[in-house]
Amino acid sequence: MNRHLISAGDLSRDDAVLILDTAAELARVEGRPIRKLPTLRGLTVVNLFYEDSTRTRTSFEAAAKRLSADVINFSAKGSSVAKGESLKDTALTLEAMGTDAVVIRHPASGAPRRLTGWVSGRVINAGDGTHEHPTQALLDAFTMRQRLIGNGPGGGAGGPGGDPRGQGLDGIRVTIVGDVLHSRVARSNVLLLSTLGAQVTVVAPPTLMPLAVETWPCRSSYDLDGELRKSDVVMMLRVQQERMTAAYFPSVREYRRRYGLDASRMALLPEHAIVMHPGPMNRGVEIAAEVADSSRSTIVAQVANGVTVRMAVLYLMLGGATEGAA
Ligand code: CP
Repeated sequence: MNRHLISAGDLSRDDAVLILDTAAELARVEGRPIRKLPTLRGLTVVNLFYEDSTRTRTSFEAAAKRLSADVINFSAKGSSVAKGESLKDTALTLEAMGTDAVVIRHPASGAPRRLTGWVSGRVINAGDGTHEHPTQALLDAFTMRQRLIGNGPGGGAGGPGGDPRGQGLDGIRVTIVGDVLHSRVARSNVLLLSTLGAQVTVVAPPTLMPLAVETWPCRSSYDLDGELRKSDVVMMLRVQQERMTAAYFPSVREYRRRYGLDASRMALLPEHAIVMHPGPMNRGVEIAAEVADSSRSTIVAQVANGVTVRMAVLYLMLGGATEGAA
């Protein structure tokens, strides 16, 4: 594996499968009375968050703590960033306190890559602007493998009961729907899922389809209903109003009618298909509450899997692999 995790494109198929298999092994710990491993004792992980987060920040914190690392949570709000301190100076300050890994979320695409030139520890991208969110893609791939390929050590309710360890997602048809233009989750998922052998299609209104989508390793379509009928996975994306600088669709009602997933549209999916969303959701916009709360939805499982997948990333990147997982 590379020294840093900035893009899902940094991962080879072997790297990605190793992370998913390690996460499945670490998930066994969840069933134990004491869920902590000593693997990263003495190491320090800094969560450097310049943008709001619920799932990613808390799951990285939980993951690092379950591996016995010391965790420093840094939020730009309430820090000297408000007084004009730069990312570089903030990073060097944290580095001076002794940091082995920095988990960074930043509104500027490319900020994690810049950070790699300023700190000596490992850098993990926890979401940068509209660029990438590689650990979200990893936890999504883990959830698909768990649900569609079988019940490995990571558990999982669905699938034909096979063991997913060592496997990719060959032939799995994934449709990613919505605000693809602004979505770092879509970018990372397209890269990772194609590396793992999935057939990915992105569906969006023309105004929310990236201009260079034909250079991505996926198909693109404007016809949601046509794609749903041949999908094993439908991944709904949040409409990112906060990143929209223009009117990308006439009204929320029109968007929901053409690109929202409600119960009648969900009925077009094959019986085994699952519904995913990275969160946070706009209930009633891209996804109806009845779909989000349905038995096909993996949204809560994705959050739970986020902890074990991030444990696996920290474990492999910080050298825990040489010490044994349990
Ligand atoms: N999926 C995701 O990144 O959620 P948060 O913004 O809550 O971290």
